[in-house]
Amino acid sequence: MGKVIDGKQVAASVIDAVKTATSALEKETGVKTGLAVVIVGDDPASHTYVNSKSKMAKECGFNSIQHTLPAETTQGELAGLVRSLNEDPSIHGILVQLPLPKDLDADAIIQSIRPEKDVDGLHVVNAGKLATGDLATGLISCTPAGAMLLVRSINGEDLSGLNAVVIGRSNLFGKPMAQLLLHANATVAMAHSRTKDLATVARGADILVAAVGRPEMVKADWIKPGATVIDVGINRIAAPERGEGKSRLVGDVAYAEASDLAAAITPVPGGVGPMTIAMLMANTVVAAHRAAGRQPPTF
Ligand code: GUN
Repeated sequence: MGKVIDGKQVAASVIDAVKTATSALEKETGVKTGLAVVIVGDDPASHTYVNSKSKMAKECGFNSIQHTLPAETTQGELAGLVRSLNEDPSIHGILVQLPLPKDLDADAIIQSIRPEKDVDGLHVVNAGKLATGDLATGLISCTPAGAMLLVRSINGEDLSGLNAVVIGRSNLFGKPMAQLLLHANATVAMAHSRTKDLATVARGADILVAAVGRPEMVKADWIKPGATVIDVGINRIAAPERGEGKSRLVGDVAYAEASDLAAAITPVPGGVGPMTIAMLMANTVVAAHRAAGRQPPTF
């Protein structure tokens, strides 16, 4: 049985560092870190996520603003809100929760956020800085940044000589994750739904990162013995054994069988999940330090 990577514990230590940095910045400069979270429509899962983000921002000592807009909001109205948040000096981070209702052009909205306030790390300027190895002045997408902290907690800062495989190639996760691993000197392969013999590719990984959105797709025979396994999937599946109509959360990795082979593995829930919010708070306090001309903390 491999080590279970405790994402809640790592996230709690990030949050502690964020709180310390937030209060020091306010004491020294009078600047209170500000985060604006924007949600459009009434997708219940999105509301749950956004409420946790706003609540955590308050706990960190931020000025936490939430804009809840109806599903009928027009592109122009949402763009106008982003414009006013871009101009507002009390706001250091802007997060527009995705997905947006289908009639809205999400990419146009995300790209209209000022890169310095793009705490989701989704603006092309921030993606470009990561791709060119500038980790010092940009903002990195929260879930890959959090997953990378978990990898570092097991394998250290320098991944020289290690093979990493990322399954999934989204802009939100797979691509930035691969860039972070590469930056730490891993030899990185990106695999996806069109990859031939995924199991064999995965089995070459010293660090295996799964972000495919398919419940328990990664089986024991995909895992190299001794690997670090990072499971980014959050899938709700039926759990009739818990009673009629009950469900449970599982990752993209068949946890019980994979944990026998992995040296270290993230559980679902309690692995990568808690890291996403923690890194959003980290990005926001970094953005506030930069706006105040102060050296930001590192995570
Ligand atoms: N929806 C699911 N994950 C995310 C995320 O990391 N950022 C935003 N903005 N929306 C999301």
